[in-house]
Amino acid sequence: MDFEKIRSDLSKVLSEKRYQHTLGVEEIGVRLAERWEENPDEMRTAALLHDCAKGMRINEQFEFCRQNGIPISREDTLSPGVIHARIGAFLAHWKYHVKEREILDAIFFHPTGKDNMTRLQKLLFIADYIDPNRDLHVTGDLTELAFEDMETAVLEIVIAKNEYLIENRMILHPDSIKLYNWQIIYIEQRK
Ligand SMILES: [Fe+2]
Ligand SMILES: [Fe+2]
Repeated sequence: MDFEKIRSDLSKVLSEKRYQHTLGVEEIGVRLAERWEENPDEMRTAALLHDCAKGMRINEQFEFCRQNGIPISREDTLSPGVIHARIGAFLAHWKYHVKEREILDAIFFHPTGKDNMTRLQKLLFIADYIDPNRDLHVTGDLTELAFEDMETAVLEIVIAKNEYLIENRMILHPDSIKLYNWQIIYIEQRK
């Protein structure tokens, strides 16, 4: 994988803010992969490409899906913030020739998570949220947690994301509810 080429492509299609976010996810994602003994190159690939479609406006995203036959579920239509992830996985495969299903699914599900994610997929979900360049006030504690207890970090992040949606009276995507339930049971059972 030619990471320099991907960075160069992304710097042209993403806003400066989104590009910096991508580099932040790459940096923290690779550190997390090393900590949890996952493949750092796979993590780097997933992190760099996770928001590669975010440069398109939302109506362009829907149009891209229509033209390329990317299926959009009813739930996705109600949570349009997930569409860029569907296109991201499509581009990762067809433009950047990523073949590993695990990486493509990590990109596909990164906004919401889902049940039964692999560790790599969980680490991308975490890295996207705790990106050091994003400077959310919560990220300090969550970053520490992510290096100590990956599973609880995933749970805390899905709660934070869904609390935000509830406070703003927005729809919860069913995949994020599946992730929440999965983490509750998983953490309970490992005790
Ligand atoms: Fe995203
Ligand atoms: Fe992101």
